[in-house]
Amino acid sequence: SLLPVILSGGSGTRLWPLSRETYPKQLLALTGPHTMLQQTALRLEGLAGNAKVLDPCVVCNAEYRFITAEQLQAAGKPASSILLEPFGRNTAPALTLAALHAHAGGQDPLLLVMPADHVIARQDAFQAAVRQGIPAARGGAMVTFGIVPERAETGYGYLRRGAAAPDGSYALDRFVEKPDAEHARRYLDSGDYLWNSGLFMMHASVWLAAIAHFDPAMLAACTAALQAARADVDFIRIDTAAFEACPSDSIDYAVMEKLAAAPQLGIAARVVPMEAGWSDVGAWDALWDILDKDEAGNAACGETLLERSANSLLFASSRLVAGVGLDNIVVVETPDAVLVAAKDCAQDVKKIVARLKAEG
Ligand code: GDD
Ligand code: MG
Repeated sequence: SLLPVILSGGSGTRLWPLSRETYPKQLLALTGPHTMLQQTALRLEGLAGNAKVLDPCVVCNAEYRFITAEQLQAAGKPASSILLEPFGRNTAPALTLAALHAHAGGQDPLLLVMPADHVIARQDAFQAAVRQGIPAARGGAMVTFGIVPERAETGYGYLRRGAAAPDGSYALDRFVEKPDAEHARRYLDSGDYLWNSGLFMMHASVWLAAIAHFDPAMLAACTAALQAARADVDFIRIDTAAFEACPSDSIDYAVMEKLAAAPQLGIAARVVPMEAGWSDVGAWDALWDILDKDEAGNAACGETLLERSANSLLFASSRLVAGVGLDNIVVVETPDAVLVAAKDCAQDVKKIVARLKAEG
């Protein structure tokens, strides 16, 4: 069977003022009627083919337990379990908790690891890629999904594609997480690399074997934190004291980067190319990219009016927002904060968030 594991722990600071600590990106409906968390679960609809697809396991912060459960219910995709972290320790512990939970009782489902805050335009292409990765994952490999890169992005992982297998997957020769600008440029120009989508697939036991090897302290802390967990209605509350001892690390740094250099482990790494209109909607310019636009390249959400403007994004949430003569501008209105930014500087919104935090 295949168990989707939805990682829903980020805060999305570059989408301020819409995303807040009290309302992270995955719980927002940015591109249509469904929130990104709901879209993540709905993307699985119809995936079942040669594998039985279980209801998803969600790992999120305890603070968001009700809204997370409600959103999935409302989308008709209730979770099979919701693991609640008292605080984030990044993605590797989140996946380790889910793998331990799934592995309890001796079961060993394939885990399909899904970030909760991505947009994937073509569901059929996404599902085809997942299906394509299943044989390799069943065979004990760690499967990644690669996106054809569009720019020398430094915020992503890079996958070097090796030899092709008959199942359509490729050997993963090298994994580089968040390279500097110079290396990112080199990888892009080489044509040998794909972006890491952040989706992964492997047996629960394979992930646990990898983390036992690369970070035994993490496995020990997660095991203790899950053993001491409390069942709370429909939720599983991870034990705070035990989880405090858990090192913080991402799936990418803790395991994926190191896998290629550890052949003695006997865990193969594979990459399946995915051309599904993927975007991680990291910042406002990425959202503008994927939204429908008028002839002049303007995208608008909510009650807005534009005159003589081009290539801009207007986002109104509580009142009318009007723009005149805008070019490459982003305006995001919320009841208590308004962002006006040059679209090319969308990444720097996180600096505003950092200042707000620092200045209290
Ligand atoms: N439960 C839980 N707990 N979820 C978490 C935590 C945590 O502590 N930290 C992050 N997440 C969730 C986020 O909500 C997101 O859905 C996903 O895990 C990935 O985390 P990010 O923090 O967004 O990772 P990233 O964007 O820096 O990098 C990853 O994604 C890129 C593609 O978007 C890496 O896998 C890169 O290699 C990849 O290119
Ligand atoms: Mg991300």
